[in-house]
Amino acid sequence: MRVWALPLALLALVACVTESVAHRRQAKPPVVVLPRPVPIDPVLVARRLASMQPGWPRSRRFDCSRIKCVALTFDDGPGEPTGRLLDLLKRRDVRATFFVIGQMVAADQGGRTVRRMVDDGHELGNHSWSHPPLAELPLEAVRKELQDTDDIVERLTGVRMRVMRPPYGSTDDDVAEETRREGLAQILWNVDTLDWRDRVSTTVAKRAGEAKPGSIVLLHDIHPSTVDAVPALLDTLSRKGYTFVTVSELYGRTPEPGMMYTER
Ligand code: NI
Repeated sequence: MRVWALPLALLALVACVTESVAHRRQAKPPVVVLPRPVPIDPVLVARRLASMQPGWPRSRRFDCSRIKCVALTFDDGPGEPTGRLLDLLKRRDVRATFFVIGQMVAADQGGRTVRRMVDDGHELGNHSWSHPPLAELPLEAVRKELQDTDDIVERLTGVRMRVMRPPYGSTDDDVAEETRREGLAQILWNVDTLDWRDRVSTTVAKRAGEAKPGSIVLLHDIHPSTVDAVPALLDTLSRKGYTFVTVSELYGRTPEPGMMYTER
C-alpha cells in the first residue's frame, strides 16, 4: 500500500460510519408487513362513485381563529386497527385527517376503509405509495410515489386529495415544487406523540393532550396502542374546550398547494 493510501482509507471509513449513524438516528422502523392485495371490484366502485356527493371535502365551517381547534392526523394506514378507530371517532362525532400510504390502500379489502373514511366525513391525505424519504429520491420517483397514491384513492373513493404529508417530514424545494404541481399542500405537525416508538396508550394520550389551539397532532392508526389512547386523548382535549377538525377545516379552506403547514 502506498504511503498516502492509508490516511485516505481512514478518512473514507470515518465518513461512512458518521453517515450511517446519522441516518439511523433519523430513520423510523419500516412500515408494517403488508397483507396480500385484494382485487378492486369495478362494479362496487362504479356504484360508489354514482352515489358520491359532489364537493368533497365536505368541510364544516369553523372559525378556528376564534374557537379552540385541534387537527388530529393519523398516518401510515389504513391498517388493522383502523376500523376500530373509525368506530370510536364516529361514536363521538369526531373528524380527523388520514394520511394514507398507497400500498396500504391497495391491500385494504378493495378500498373499504378509505371509502368509510370519506363517508364518515374525514379528510384523506397522500402519504406516498411506499413511505420513502422523498427528499432523497429523484424527482421522477417522487412524482410516481404521489401520483400512484392520488390515483388509487381517487379510483376507489372518487376523492381527489388536496393535502399530503412527506414521510419522516422529508421534503425540500423539489418535493415542494412537485406537490404544488400535483395540487397538494404539505402538512407537517407541531405535536409529535412518538406513538410509533412508545407503544403505551397513556403516554400517547398525555402527549396529544398537550396540544395548543391550532395544533396538528401526529398519530399512527397502524398501532393498536394508539387507537387505545384515543378515548383518553379525546376526553382530555374536550375537557379543555377543543373542537376536533380536519386539516382543511383548521384553515377554513383548502390549504395552498406546495406550501408547508405545521399548525394554524
Ligand atoms: Ni409515516
